[in-house]
Amino acid sequence: MHIHFTDTSPANIRLIARIVNQGDALADLDPAMADGAPAARFKGSAGQVFEGFTMHDGALKRMAIAGAGERDAEADKRVHHLERAGSALTAKYLRSGEAAMVLDLGHAGLSGEEAASVLLGVRLRGWAYDNYRTTLSSDKKVTLETVHVIGAPAGTAEAWETKAALATGVEFTKRLVTLPPNILYPESFVALCEEAFVGTGAEITVLDDDAMAELGMGALLGVGQGSRRPSRLLAIRWNGGASGDKPTALVGKGVTFDTGGISIKPAAGMEDMKWDMGGAGAVAGGMLALVLRKAKANVVGVIGLVENMPDGNAQRPGDVVTTMSGQTVEVINTDAEGRLVLCDALHWTQEQHKPARIVDFATLTGAMIIALGNEHAGVFANDDDLAGQLLSAGEATGDKLWRLPIGPAYDKLIDSAIADIKNVGPRQGGSITAAQFLHRFIKKGTPWAHCDIAGTVWSEKPGHSWDKGATGYGVRLIDRFIADLAE
Ligand code: BES
Ligand code: MN
Ligand code: ZN
Repeated sequence: MHIHFTDTSPANIRLIARIVNQGDALADLDPAMADGAPAARFKGSAGQVFEGFTMHDGALKRMAIAGAGERDAEADKRVHHLERAGSALTAKYLRSGEAAMVLDLGHAGLSGEEAASVLLGVRLRGWAYDNYRTTLSSDKKVTLETVHVIGAPAGTAEAWETKAALATGVEFTKRLVTLPPNILYPESFVALCEEAFVGTGAEITVLDDDAMAELGMGALLGVGQGSRRPSRLLAIRWNGGASGDKPTALVGKGVTFDTGGISIKPAAGMEDMKWDMGGAGAVAGGMLALVLRKAKANVVGVIGLVENMPDGNAQRPGDVVTTMSGQTVEVINTDAEGRLVLCDALHWTQEQHKPARIVDFATLTGAMIIALGNEHAGVFANDDDLAGQLLSAGEATGDKLWRLPIGPAYDKLIDSAIADIKNVGPRQGGSITAAQFLHRFIKKGTPWAHCDIAGTVWSEKPGHSWDKGATGYGVRLIDRFIADLAE
């Protein structure tokens, strides 16, 4: 979707929209709008839309007003409400037949920053992926392509530059998460990132199977060995901060398809496991947002990419693998593969980049969805400050987190009889023992947090900033976390 700033309303567009705060007088609108809206119970609450008609330069136009809630709502809430006003307009008109909308931002007393929040909502809700739908009837196709913004308050264009970078990051993540697993696999994930980051100044490093074998990444490679697709480790480094400042590391689970391996999953719903690379997607999109807005921070995104398949060469339950850290792991269940991928990625990240702190993102456990549903992702941390920073970034952006415990009593549950660690604990506390597993690969003194995003990557119903499907979860969280932390 193109967002285009202009001084005068293009004449040939049939649809005009405005933002209205709760309680604003509608006196400067056509009587048909001013009387019609309250009659239809339009109050201006966040995300409410009323459509009527208006005469404009002698022509009849469709006119929409979108509610932004109370003008003096608390700051974070106000931002959400403004985004909802924008996204409600897109949701209504995306497939409406209209190719363009004039959005008049000059009437609700918005600041430039607030106006840009409306535009973020407009753009995020506009992402759709219909490329494989060759027979979609014409009245269901996306039509809305351009939003002409008029009356933008001073500072809108500048504020929009930053938010547009964020939107591009979210869209990249949604695309990665949406692509089917015959199209998105470790090598093609890398290729898409190479393409997205070209010319941005980010440094990209890719390790192939041989390079990882050389480094002794037996856990990550063990997961990939049952697949025809080679595995990859991808690092995206952005040095926007002071030289010599240790980077913040973001580490993502990129299982491009998770069959479960020899511990194979049931057939029903297995197609969902195409989005088992949601953590990798969040890290890639988060890095893209940071890089495009030239964040003043040193950040490295590290992504472990594998396909978990059953095959004659697949690893077996009972196998013992040696990780890059030297610790050995008894593979009890080949479906607990995410932690095997992450443990080598986490160790390599610490060796290679000496990060000041590490945050990993992974669709790690089904148990996380049982615990928190689809509203919050779980966060586990060995550092209260880091946990607090993530929780508050989540609260501010809507990529919400909820903290869960870790500790020695849980850690004991993954001691193995034959190796240093086993890759599953008991059924109880399954998300926590998964976090404990990762914790064993974090060097003493390094602040670390693990975000289990299994419940928030994909949505069966449309939300404020997504259609059903990929939510783009994590990108806004990462962007805000880095902004609060380092800038
Ligand atoms: N990718 C899954 C977790 C998952 C399940 C994410 C459903 C999203 C939706 C992960 O690799 C997995 O299979 N975990 C197992 C762990 C178990 C074998 C200890 C699980 O959650 O069942
Ligand atoms: Mn699995
Ligand atoms: Zn998985």
